Amino acid sequence: MVFKLAAGYIALASLAGSVLGGATYTLSDSIVGNDFYTSFTFEAIPDPTDGDVTYVDMATAQSLNLTYATSDTFIMRADDTTVIATGAAGRNSVRIQSNNAYTTHVAVFDMQHMPQGCGTWPAVWESDTSNWPDGGEVDIVEGVNDVTPNQSTLHTSPDCEIPASGVDQLGTTVGTDCDATVNGNAGCGVQLTEDDNSFGPGFNNVGGGWYAIERTTDYISIWFWERGDTSAPTDATSGASTVDTSNWGTPAAYFPNTDCDLATHFDANNIIINLTFCGDWAGNSAVYAASGCPSTCTDYVNANPSAFTDAYFQFSSINIYE
Ligand SMILES: *[C@@H]1O[C@H](CO)[C@@H](O)[C@H](O)[C@H]1NC(C)=O
Ligand SMILES: *[C@@H]1O[C@H](CO)[C@@H](O)[C@H](O)[C@H]1NC(C)=O
Ligand SMILES: *[C@@H]1O[C@H](CO)[C@@H](O)[C@H](O)[C@H]1NC(C)=O
Repeated sequence: MVFKLAAGYIALASLAGSVLGGATYTLSDSIVGNDFYTSFTFEAIPDPTDGDVTYVDMATAQSLNLTYATSDTFIMRADDTTVIATGAAGRNSVRIQSNNAYTTHVAVFDMQHMPQGCGTWPAVWESDTSNWPDGGEVDIVEGVNDVTPNQSTLHTSPDCEIPASGVDQLGTTVGTDCDATVNGNAGCGVQLTEDDNSFGPGFNNVGGGWYAIERTTDYISIWFWERGDTSAPTDATSGASTVDTSNWGTPAAYFPNTDCDLATHFDANNIIINLTFCGDWAGNSAVYAASGCPSTCTDYVNANPSAFTDAYFQFSSINIYE
């Protein structure tokens, strides 16, 4: 017994050293199945990143079955039946933005599947698009063409940087200046190196998993646990009414406020989920070629609808805690 207590004390002490802070939060929004239709707005807008995509409104998405809900699941996909003529508007897809916006919060995304395929550029992110970049942007999970880099990234107004090293996170920092007005808006990013199943086909093969964000004025943390990971905290995975992030272990990505005043660089952010094709990142000719994908991005996406049968998000839930 004494030994157990001592071991417990050591474990707690080392945890406290590895994760700055951590706190208890209470469930404020639980979005499951048909709730996605009332908690999110479908945005039929042009893609600001020049993607080969046509974002459709909710009625169109439902009539084309690009979105589909049951009592416990929500699916959001791109068109996988239409051959697109050269020069015509891009492939139909969906972009949704939460009606609620959040400052200090935790969000847990329970995802069974994410879009895969050459040319796909899926993203789950938070931002205030009406005040960008001053209101900040956190890309929770984002990647292109099924492959690296899969990363979490901040995009902000000037004077926000993250440390190049010495950060207690599982991933690898790949850019330190979060300023969206420099480096072609690369932002400050952390590649999720700890788990090959964090993105694309690997993620889908294991039945997905959970991404979580904790945003405070002291830090922004991102965690990923794949389905079946026995170390995944049960409060996060069960949709508990409260969660305690101090028990969640070392995050995949950790953005401290050491060289960035998070309180002034981020305002209330909406959750945004979108699937575009090609565009500035996925369709960049060097990026596209390096991923081993055929043809050019636009030609491939236009000509091969059947390549996109797996280009869909499937969510079990999104739970937000404040
Ligand atoms: C899709 O998501 C990425 C997220 O990083 C963003 O850069 C891009 O502008 C988004 N496109 C649309 C239309 O929302
Ligand atoms: C709509 O999509 C869902 C999910 O993929 C599928 O189960 C359902 O059969 C589709 N409905 C129609 C009418 O195609
Ligand atoms: C995610 O990125 C890391 C670092 O580049 C890489 O090692 C890993 O294989 C990637 N995972 C996938 C599924 O692409």
